[in-house]
Amino acid sequence: MEQNEFMEAIMYVNGVRRVLPDGLAHMTLLEYLRDLGLTGTKLGCGEGGCGSCTVMVSSYDRESKTCVHYAVNACLAPLYSVEGMHVISIEGVGHRKLGLHPLQESLASSHGSQCGFCTPGFVMSMYALLRSSKNSPSEEEIEECLAGNLCRCTGYRPIIDAFRVFAKSDDALYSGLSSLSLQDGSNICPSTGKPCSCGSKTTSEAATCNEDRFQSISYSDIDGAKYTDKELIFPPELLLRKLAPLKLGGNEGITWYRPVSLQNLLELKANFPDAKLLVGNTEVGIEMRLKRLQYPVLISAAQVPELNALNVNDNGIEVGSALRLSELLRLFRKVVKERPAHETSACKAFIEQLKWFAGTQIRNVACIGGNICTASPISDLNPLWMASRAEFRIINCNGDARSIPAKDFFLGYRKVDMGSNEILLSVFLPWTRPLEYVKEFKQAHRRDDDIAIVNGGMRVFLEEKGQQLFVSDASIVYGGVAPLSLRARNTEELLIGKNWNKCLLQDALKVIQSDVLIKEGAPGGMVEFRKSLTLSFFFKFFLWVTHHVNNVNPTIETFPPSHMSAVQLVPRFSRIGKQDYETVKQGTSVGLPEVHLSARMQVFWSICWLAEGP
Ligand SMILES: Cc1cc2nc3c(=O)[nH]c(=O)nc-3n(C[C@H](O)[C@H](O)[C@H](O)COP(=O)(O)OP(=O)(O)OC[C@H]3O[C@@H](n4cnc5c(N)ncnc54)[C@H](O)[C@@H]3O)c2cc1C
Ligand code: FES
Ligand code: FES
Repeated sequence: MEQNEFMEAIMYVNGVRRVLPDGLAHMTLLEYLRDLGLTGTKLGCGEGGCGSCTVMVSSYDRESKTCVHYAVNACLAPLYSVEGMHVISIEGVGHRKLGLHPLQESLASSHGSQCGFCTPGFVMSMYALLRSSKNSPSEEEIEECLAGNLCRCTGYRPIIDAFRVFAKSDDALYSGLSSLSLQDGSNICPSTGKPCSCGSKTTSEAATCNEDRFQSISYSDIDGAKYTDKELIFPPELLLRKLAPLKLGGNEGITWYRPVSLQNLLELKANFPDAKLLVGNTEVGIEMRLKRLQYPVLISAAQVPELNALNVNDNGIEVGSALRLSELLRLFRKVVKERPAHETSACKAFIEQLKWFAGTQIRNVACIGGNICTASPISDLNPLWMASRAEFRIINCNGDARSIPAKDFFLGYRKVDMGSNEILLSVFLPWTRPLEYVKEFKQAHRRDDDIAIVNGGMRVFLEEKGQQLFVSDASIVYGGVAPLSLRARNTEELLIGKNWNKCLLQDALKVIQSDVLIKEGAPGGMVEFRKSLTLSFFFKFFLWVTHHVNNVNPTIETFPPSHMSAVQLVPRFSRIGKQDYETVKQGTSVGLPEVHLSARMQVFWSICWLAEGP
């Protein structure tokens, strides 16, 4: 592969073309932006956890021939990973003098910023959601997109309120026919969720009332042009550009390679067996920056088409190892709609697990292979791959491929059955069969964007014999209880051949206690709590499967209605809060809900904090 054989390395930042010079392979996108003077993008944690560095990346998807927009954490994104892409930072979204974006206006006037450090990150997450959505997002989608952004000041309520007005509303609410119509004949305002204050009864009047309440306030102070006139487009040059391999250097002898075909990648792997492969850099970036590990040769596999391939067939789904987790989630949601319900039990389990996996910015770049090959003992997905009979396809530098069941792939702490001349090519997930059930589990300190204390993946395949159901096959896998994702083998053995009833539950709970041993002083602490989680997960699994088979065969087992909460999915509750202001008119602003003076600067902030680094 020749060096930069096609063209120079470039990117666009806020609509401006930038040539990326050689020598910056050590740099993150955040460092680069701030060096350009775009200091609205903040450095908070530097490890993908707070979202203050959020920017939107737009790239051209050659497969679907569309532009895709997504939020990323600039603190973890290597600069060269966005080569050929368009990066929009807070400075490219709106400006106080030239017109704030409606998102910024809404955030400022809803008291959604206090110190303002997190504010650009929140705006960018929401901006990326709006740019990537064909229709207005739902309230749940809005809250989901903000899960990777932290705010220490506001308590989130005003931020959610500010963005909620961009959610889609129920049109039926305008018609007066809605179930939410009030007894006195007035309607609930679709945007505020409150009775319409104008008291109008007709559809058109109600709509007018709503328009008045939320009329666009994003007009420029200077020329009166609407903000939308200034929305940055995807640069046409990037649409026409061919994807080229890259070889670029950086400080301390780092070399960055970007192969654009599997063959390129395997050649590089053969030449540099110790090279570090990366895709989203959410593990490697932390190893290099926080743990100070040195990887002189970095190979970015993100743009290798073979590693991004998708294949849905009669047996299951095969996905390339570089597929980003947000795309995996989209794929699963699609197949769940299209395929027979019994085939997609595992897909549904992955959907639930991915919903609570990191924040959106991480899921937008992190790939399947990165999670698998890191082999973290608290990986949320590995117990599920293992439980759901997935197979990993491995390929070596000579192009020879082999398959290995996921359940046999993990050998020890961050150790997998893969040689230094091999890479993970793809993952195959078989469809589930009738009476085969897969379920995910995760307990963390908080629901959103947190790593698991204990997680798990469980599967049971039942067989009907007369009026009874027997276990034909089972997988019980836990994370967070050992140095690797752990199969509870004795429990699996116990289950197979047994009648699915309460005796089986009691027996299994006994065996799990000896199967999953967490010694006193084990890393992670909370030993008693973790042990109890292993039991409660299985208890929930039993109830959940029983609940589902009851729909097919109501004679199996019953349990009290009070247990139903254990089988229900945990919804992402829409946070609704209310703040009352006591208006004390004393001729001053004291006591009034005034928008503070800095708010309109903070929402597009390019001011540098004194305490901030470069
Ligand atoms: C803020 C934050 C929150 C997180 N939350 C969660 C969470 O909730 N649950 C969870 O499970 N994880 C979580 N993670 C971990 C992380 O997101 C995942 O492990 C992620 O999937 C890694 O993917 P990546 O593309 O970023 O990997 P990279 O960092 O690019 O690579 C990771 C490793 O995988 C190897 N690798 C990648 N692809 C291949 C391949 N095809 N063949 C061989 N080796 C390969 C690389 O060489 C490297 O060693 C979190 C991480 C962060 C920073
Ligand atoms: S600085 Fe916290 S996520 Fe990037
Ligand atoms: S951290 Fe969110 S306003 Fe201060």
